[in-house]
Amino acid sequence: MPEMDKEGKEYHVGVKQKSELFYLKGSTELDWGMKNRLARIFNPKDGKTIMLAIDHGYFQGPTSGLERIDINILPLVPHADTLMCTRGILRSIVPPSITKPIVIRASGGPSILKELSDEQIAMDMEDCIRLGVCATAIQVFIGGEFESRSVINMTKLVDAGLKYGIPTMAVTAVGRDMERNAKYFRLATRICAELGAHYIKTYYTKEDFETVTASCSVPIVIAGGKKIPEMDALTMAYRSINEGAAGVDMGRNIFQSDSPIGMMHAINAVVHGNEKPKQAFELYRSIKDKMQK
Ligand code: R5P
Repeated sequence: MPEMDKEGKEYHVGVKQKSELFYLKGSTELDWGMKNRLARIFNPKDGKTIMLAIDHGYFQGPTSGLERIDINILPLVPHADTLMCTRGILRSIVPPSITKPIVIRASGGPSILKELSDEQIAMDMEDCIRLGVCATAIQVFIGGEFESRSVINMTKLVDAGLKYGIPTMAVTAVGRDMERNAKYFRLATRICAELGAHYIKTYYTKEDFETVTASCSVPIVIAGGKKIPEMDALTMAYRSINEGAAGVDMGRNIFQSDSPIGMMHAINAVVHGNEKPKQAFELYRSIKDKMQK
């Protein structure tokens, strides 16, 4: 029989038990597991995240910069808050000793040779649990040929995730012929939020982006999009944060840069340090120069 401890006496009667409001927009009413996973993605100190997006191969094959994820990407992971990838790359290349939260690409189907909006849910929630992921990601094609099905796919993933406390990130995918303006993204992000997405990846718009973040009831992160000059990418990240985004989910503007590690540091300075683009660019350049010596 183990020895019994004395009963405690420090009850602090009259002192109200501490309870905190959850810091992420629109997430207060979520369950503990859901919040805890989101808290691993979005840094609790500032509510922001840098997701390193490397899932492009799921529809376009070995994208430039992602040919050898083991060589080019793994060294960047320590500088990101979150890694976003497919389960194939996770299992075959990413070491399981990694402690970074994983956001897993859970939709797929068509390649770049076909109609991209024809995506399906491409992963069971059971496998998400097996892999210990912190969120799933699924494409939603508002205005696309298979708009309705992609929206319903998202709601099915949300329902499956709710059973186990796994949040869903909706990705607003833009068709080739669609205009990437605030009006479109207000529509797309709002539909995703209304139908249950826990956070949303969308694109930055030079005009009225603050209306996109203001009208969406859950956090928004921006995708980087096609490779642009480093200074422009840092400016876009800076503006998006200052216009209400909760972070970036950035791929090509990091891994296609001539200094991916320099960009990781510079993006960190912008997202978590609110550093101005010019200073962040200087940081990128100094790290690039140092690495080249
Ligand atoms: C693209 O379909 C993927 O969802 C990417 O994760 C996303 O577009 C972010 O990557 P990038 O910054 O390269 O646009």
